[in-house]
Amino acid sequence: MCGIIGYVGKENAVPIIIEGLKKLEYRGYDSAGLAVYTGGNFNVVKRKGRLSVLESEIGLRPTSGHIGIGHTRWATHGEPSNENSHPHLGRRGLIAIVHNGIIENYRQLRDELAGKGIEFTSQTDSEVIAQLAEYYYKGDIVDTTIKVVSRLEGSYALGIMCIDEPDTLIAIKKDSPLIVGVSGHGHFIASDVPAILKHTNRVYYMNDKELAILREGSVRFCNIDREPFRKPLETITWSLDSAEKGGYPHFMLKEIMEQPAVLRSTIMSATGAGANRPVIDSLDITGFNKIVITACGSAYNAGMVARNVFERLCKVPVEVELASEFRYKDAILDARSLVILVSQSGETADTIAALREARAKGATTLSIVNVVGSTIAKEADLCIYTAAGPEIAVATTKAFSTQLILLYVLAIEFASRLGRLPPGVAQVLIDEIKGLPDKVAHILEQVDSIQRYASKSVGYKSIFFIGRNIDYAIALEGSLKLKEISYIHSEAYAGGELKHGTISLIEEDTLVVAISNCARLYDKIMSNVEQVISRGAKVLLIGDCHSGAPGVGQDGEHDSEHGGGHGSGHGADLSTDLSAELDAEPDSRLSHIALPQTDELFSPSLTVVALQLFAYFVAANKGLDIDKPRNLAKSVTVE
Ligand code: G6P
Repeated sequence: MCGIIGYVGKENAVPIIIEGLKKLEYRGYDSAGLAVYTGGNFNVVKRKGRLSVLESEIGLRPTSGHIGIGHTRWATHGEPSNENSHPHLGRRGLIAIVHNGIIENYRQLRDELAGKGIEFTSQTDSEVIAQLAEYYYKGDIVDTTIKVVSRLEGSYALGIMCIDEPDTLIAIKKDSPLIVGVSGHGHFIASDVPAILKHTNRVYYMNDKELAILREGSVRFCNIDREPFRKPLETITWSLDSAEKGGYPHFMLKEIMEQPAVLRSTIMSATGAGANRPVIDSLDITGFNKIVITACGSAYNAGMVARNVFERLCKVPVEVELASEFRYKDAILDARSLVILVSQSGETADTIAALREARAKGATTLSIVNVVGSTIAKEADLCIYTAAGPEIAVATTKAFSTQLILLYVLAIEFASRLGRLPPGVAQVLIDEIKGLPDKVAHILEQVDSIQRYASKSVGYKSIFFIGRNIDYAIALEGSLKLKEISYIHSEAYAGGELKHGTISLIEEDTLVVAISNCARLYDKIMSNVEQVISRGAKVLLIGDCHSGAPGVGQDGEHDSEHGGGHGSGHGADLSTDLSAELDAEPDSRLSHIALPQTDELFSPSLTVVALQLFAYFVAANKGLDIDKPRNLAKSVTVE
């Protein structure tokens, strides 16, 4: 994810762009740049590093102009560097662009243009847009833009300037945010409101494939058939302060809410012609006799979930190891081992050490990383990227969810290549994954009831999380999330373990969060629920709790008789009001958050959203510093 801004008007564009980029820095901060039209040319200044580096450069060599575009980058294609920073120019310097999004077919376009002798100066997907624009340009920048976007697959928000029309700023978007702002002295484009709020609170919200033509005295819109239309001008009521987190009180809540979008991007990256596909395709899974997943914190919990999915689908044993343990255990690895490293930051010291240990022992290493150009991304034999965008809150939410997606896709791919799935099942499973973002969005629409329940949960001294099999794996993440931001003591246990000791901790007014998405284990987890209730606990039951069908069964056959193999039975479907049961019995011993249906194997992607919201609202009700919990850091680069 990146931030873009553009300005055309009476004022000097440079300070306006720099100020705007400061407000967009949360979207990415590995490099920044701007281009202004000055003296018959585009003056482009771009620098790797924080925005302050760009600012110093401009301080040394001041530039100005009445039209300009700027960009703050969060690298996806091509490591952070001056060359890979935006804006990008076509080879003749006629057209300058800034881009936020991912062009999925950029390799194909790049090869096509390279075949025509066009040389590229960066490794980015975005440069193809500038080069393609110049290739098509015949004197009409609107026509050119329409032609260019007709060739693009993926997501984009674009700001475009053309040297022949130095009074015109073009903007268009698809699946990436973009607004147009209107002020007395000029007009703006931006990824987000905070970037322009200092100048105006009057904006147009762009829809996909709408084209905006901005000049000093006018803003016009047309569709891609060049038919003009009018849009309503909206007034923003946000204060400058609150807008910095996109209007959310904390980055964590904002990041929870971003999950449908980042899940979609990650699914897109790993399926079809997505950017992660060539890497996944290049791995010869048949050569391995052992799979190890190693990571720290939440990334380890993603591995715990994934083990269930890999073993059920691939029928190969999978070990999941804490990286801090793995590095010292003298792991039994050889050239037939595949070691999967999972890390949001790509810089966690223990995970780096585990990676080096695995490589030293001859294993093949595959990393799943969020930050492009990070150490784990670079040092692993292969790397696939989560498309979570910058995650600012220390407690991970959206990065975790995107890690799950890539692990699911890997498991399906491997199972398919190992011949462990009946014909057609891989596609059924992929289709099921593609349905997850909408189901997550549905849960997010109903935060109020979870918030109300959480507000009554702040007084508990201990909150236990229980589940069985894959529900136990996601219980680990629910417990971690709660304890790291709320400081309430919490543990996760496998339901069957309660009777071996933990049940002695259950007393009046202990809260037990029980997770139930495994239809075949429903009766088992419910008897655990009864056991803790009869000892005084209150229980919050989360999941597709009334399930009757098994999804992917123990025998590995996908049960397509039940809901086309998609659902796990008769639980809540997408239209279910999740809040109904929670509100109906607020003070009863047993409350219930129902979740939309999905295959049991992918249910953690839905469960975790409810768990994140629960943890967040408990901490929020305690008035804690949620984004920066005490003693924790986002990226742990020391042992
Ligand atoms: C820290 C963070 C956790 C994260 C863990 C691993 O402890 O607070 O949210 O899960 O590090 O980080 P990584 O960047 O390797 O995923």
